[in-house]
Amino acid sequence: MHLTDQEKEILDGKHGEAARISLSVLVDLGELFQAEAMTDISQVHIDTTIYMVDAGVEFAEHMAELGARFAVPASLNPSAIDLRRWREYRTPPDLLENSRRLEAAYLKMGATPTWTCAPYQQGMIPRFGEDIAWGESNAIAFANSIIGARTNRCADLMDICAAIVGKVPRFGLHLEENRKAEMLIQLEDITPEMLADKAVYPLLGFLTGEMAGDRIAALKGIPRNTDTDALKAFSAAAASSGAVGLFHLIGVTPEARTLEMCFQGETPGVVLEMTRKAVRYARERLSTAQGDAADVVVLGCPHFSFPELRYLARLMEGKSVHSNVVFWAFTSRAALGWARNSGILKALENSGVMLFTDGCPLQYPSEAWNFHTAMTDSAKFANYCYSQTGLEVTLGSIEECADTAVRGKICRRDLL
Ligand code: F3S
Repeated sequence: MHLTDQEKEILDGKHGEAARISLSVLVDLGELFQAEAMTDISQVHIDTTIYMVDAGVEFAEHMAELGARFAVPASLNPSAIDLRRWREYRTPPDLLENSRRLEAAYLKMGATPTWTCAPYQQGMIPRFGEDIAWGESNAIAFANSIIGARTNRCADLMDICAAIVGKVPRFGLHLEENRKAEMLIQLEDITPEMLADKAVYPLLGFLTGEMAGDRIAALKGIPRNTDTDALKAFSAAAASSGAVGLFHLIGVTPEARTLEMCFQGETPGVVLEMTRKAVRYARERLSTAQGDAADVVVLGCPHFSFPELRYLARLMEGKSVHSNVVFWAFTSRAALGWARNSGILKALENSGVMLFTDGCPLQYPSEAWNFHTAMTDSAKFANYCYSQTGLEVTLGSIEECADTAVRGKICRRDLL
């Protein structure tokens, strides 16, 4: 691998031990993937933010104690908990303590305390063609596919190393030739009316991930004016059902304005069709719960944007959450601030919605809440729900989730 003089100095320890460790790990990774050189990155999104095992905390603390300081802006993915409203979230003391240790280590190294899985909606927005290193599957897919920035699926701990040196090995999705679509998915009988329904996008994303696996899919038929939140839901779902770092939505993805562009002039070898029947069936497959009970309604996976909070406030206007149900919405600190300043936060709280920042609902402290069933508008949450939380789940639209929370039992309509 070709290294610059500065990189050789770092490996010789002339820029400190933390930088030496970080670069040596990244060079090993690059050699594994036959990278020819390192590339400078402009920002990192760190995904090693949920306390899982002591090793994760100890690595972050060790690097901070060695004097590491992030060389580029580094945003943080969610913690396991709401670091500010941990009491309301019924956080056990040991989880609070370990989450705080991670927080302290990252802040010491200079991280931006975004604590959100939608950094691209909270000011950490790369531009088209920019090399970045992002963790968190939905954010990676969104950055590559919707913005056209360039990142591999940056693994936990590698993200810390990348932030410390501001570099990653140049391979995979950093290279133009590796961003070529490998298969085409056509929307068969999915009507414009269906595509106008935002509840369809998580299902389209889920099916795209399943059909693509680890290939780069190009999808034909998504309207050019699809909004950011629908594209966020699509990205999250696709990256949960497949090993998806990049997909092309023809006419939406900046480097895929035409079919020719996403196949880089070649003819698609594999062409598959996505049908209305498959979309409807996906919703049923993602709903494991029987009966009409939902103990908790979960929105904000990925974290809600301010427009989503605003829409939720409109849905809940003049209504109250039923006593049978806990209604949670997860968002970023930035969106919460806007909600507070615009009066939306108060309105949502008055209707009984509990708003949390920083945390991830898949990591909720299950022993402190006696839930058996959940409802959500997120195909990603529904996909992982049973395996990660043990809860049976029903997938619906945001409107159906709000109705369910108000009536105290599952309310769903048929998809178009
Ligand atoms: Fe975010 Fe957790 Fe969902 S990190 S995307 S809320 S699984």
